Amino acid sequence: MSSPPALHVSDLRKVYDNGVTALHGISLDVGEGDFFALLGPNGAGKSTLIGIISSLVNASAGTVEVFGVDVARRRGDAMRLVGLVPQEINFNLFERPFDILVNYAGFHGVPRALAIERAHEELARAHLSGKAHLTSRTLSGGMKRRLMIARALMTRPRLLILDEPTAGVDIEIRRGMWQQMREINASGTTVILTTHYLEEAEELCRNIAIIDHGRIVQHTAMKALLATLDVEGFVFDIDGELPALLPQIEGVRLTARDVRTLDVEMPRTMNLNLLFSALGESGIVVRSMRNRSNRLEELFLRLTAREVAAS
Ligand SMILES: Nc1ncnc2c1ncn2[C@@H]1O[C@H](COP(=O)(O)OP(=O)(O)OP(=O)(O)O)[C@@H](O)[C@H]1O
Ligand SMILES: [Mg+2]
Repeated sequence: MSSPPALHVSDLRKVYDNGVTALHGISLDVGEGDFFALLGPNGAGKSTLIGIISSLVNASAGTVEVFGVDVARRRGDAMRLVGLVPQEINFNLFERPFDILVNYAGFHGVPRALAIERAHEELARAHLSGKAHLTSRTLSGGMKRRLMIARALMTRPRLLILDEPTAGVDIEIRRGMWQQMREINASGTTVILTTHYLEEAEELCRNIAIIDHGRIVQHTAMKALLATLDVEGFVFDIDGELPALLPQIEGVRLTARDVRTLDVEMPRTMNLNLLFSALGESGIVVRSMRNRSNRLEELFLRLTAREVAAS
């Protein structure tokens, strides 16, 4: 018999007391060991879904199972399988990291001796061992974020859910957290990550669901999704100045951003060397280049625009 998926969501609906329908009957599966991205704009229903999975919010209809355990019928069992990292830092800033971890585990029924052992382990994994006994208030922003994740791991969840853990943090902190999340996933924990940073999903996740207005608009492998994008955008920095008249190159759209900067849209399959030599023939020498925008972001805008057009 094959084991149940880490998460099975079937026809899930949520209507809040004020009449707002946050989820219009969504279905979703996340395999064990996956690193799964849940993407969507503000108000899409991501936190509502996460709230239901982690037993903080009651569903109006439909089912959610975590490793085969129904969260509504076996709440306690399901809760033991799930670890949640909420978006906002919500530990007591006057407590010490070590105590935050031990007390959290104790609250969730982990015996004290075991909790202490795990706290040492998790602090080391989060590179916070040296900060264990300082007031949390003195931790940097990145350290506080890592502590939030370490805390969720104290119960050894098989499914870790992170609700926009990198919202509003700078790229350096984000990269540190990416590493931490990768290690957690590599150790066998299934990870679901919600994010507004599309490059983050692209960087970390194997599968993805895009949710908009309480509906799943896409549920697929990250690679398959990226493969559907046929056009790539670049920005070229030019040596010298661009000519007044840009060359015509088949399949390529060139737009001068300023005299030294060229916006380029080209088919993904096109050979860049061909483009460089075609530009060279017009006296345009490319000094450096970068990706113009996030491909996933473009796709996301397209998908959600289609939804709006259809509704
Ligand atoms: N407790 C609540 N009571 C009433 N309506 C709510 C409640 N929580 C969320 N909603 C509404 O449900 C919808 C989905 O909200 P949700 O917080 O799930 O979105 P989200 O995708 O997490 O958004 P964000 O990216 O901004 O965090 C929104 O219209 C929101 O206003
Ligand atoms: Mg949210």
